[in-house]
Amino acid sequence: MSTRHDLERQDVFFPGRLGVRAALTDLLSRRWSPRSFSARPVEPSKLLSVFEAARWSPSSANEQPWRFFVATKEDTQVYETLLALLVETNQRWAMRAPVLILGVAQSSYSKNGRPYRHSWYDLGQSVANLTVEAEALGLAVHQMGGFDAASAVELLSIPKEYEPVIAIALGYPDRPEILPEDLKKREETPRSRQPLERLVFTEEWGRPSRHIDTRSPLLENPLSTN
Ligand SMILES: Cc1cc2nc3c(=O)[nH]c(=O)nc-3n(C[C@H](O)[C@H](O)[C@H](O)COP(=O)(O)O)c2cc1C
Repeated sequence: MSTRHDLERQDVFFPGRLGVRAALTDLLSRRWSPRSFSARPVEPSKLLSVFEAARWSPSSANEQPWRFFVATKEDTQVYETLLALLVETNQRWAMRAPVLILGVAQSSYSKNGRPYRHSWYDLGQSVANLTVEAEALGLAVHQMGGFDAASAVELLSIPKEYEPVIAIALGYPDRPEILPEDLKKREETPRSRQPLERLVFTEEWGRPSRHIDTRSPLLENPLSTN
């Protein structure tokens, strides 16, 4: 059995600089949402892979409600349209991203027309998979709720049974120094999360579950049992 000390020596686990408190695959522990993107274009094969990752996500009744508008800087007109949909505070940094994406969710089941209660959830999972695949390829994703959904429907002729949900900037991350000073400061602010104790319950709502006691002296590497 590995001790916490053993695990700490492996980069993959306990990358303390990020405040990660349990064994975690490094794709998740190092992921973050940068504002600083390099001008380097994303290779077509990598772009294909991130959408393939989205495609293989689970969904309610395998409905696969996710749709995506994507534009690289080469798709000048669509790229400009997607950029213009963003709120100004997002445009300031997203304009550097070589790829912009709009995530759209189908709002009713295709087989019976009933409301699709989990459609946003399913789109979110597909974007999560896309994000992790991007991380594995050395790319980074920054999702944005700050965009004009009504204009997206109009300008992109999105059919009425679909809802624009999320805008996404994708590209290679770059140094914070290339950003204006205020954005550079935000870029350098450490990522933070609520403690697990506030999130996971067993006995009753609000009481930390015994299953997430991260003070435990010995933690097994959950990946070593596979
Ligand atoms: C649904 C959603 C909407 C978001 N909207 C914005 C946004 O409009 N602008 C922005 O700068 N970041 C946005 N973010 C990014 C979050 O602020 C970011 O994920 C969060 O602060 C955690 O930081 P991290 O991803 O670096 O861990 C959004 C993220 C999600 C998932």
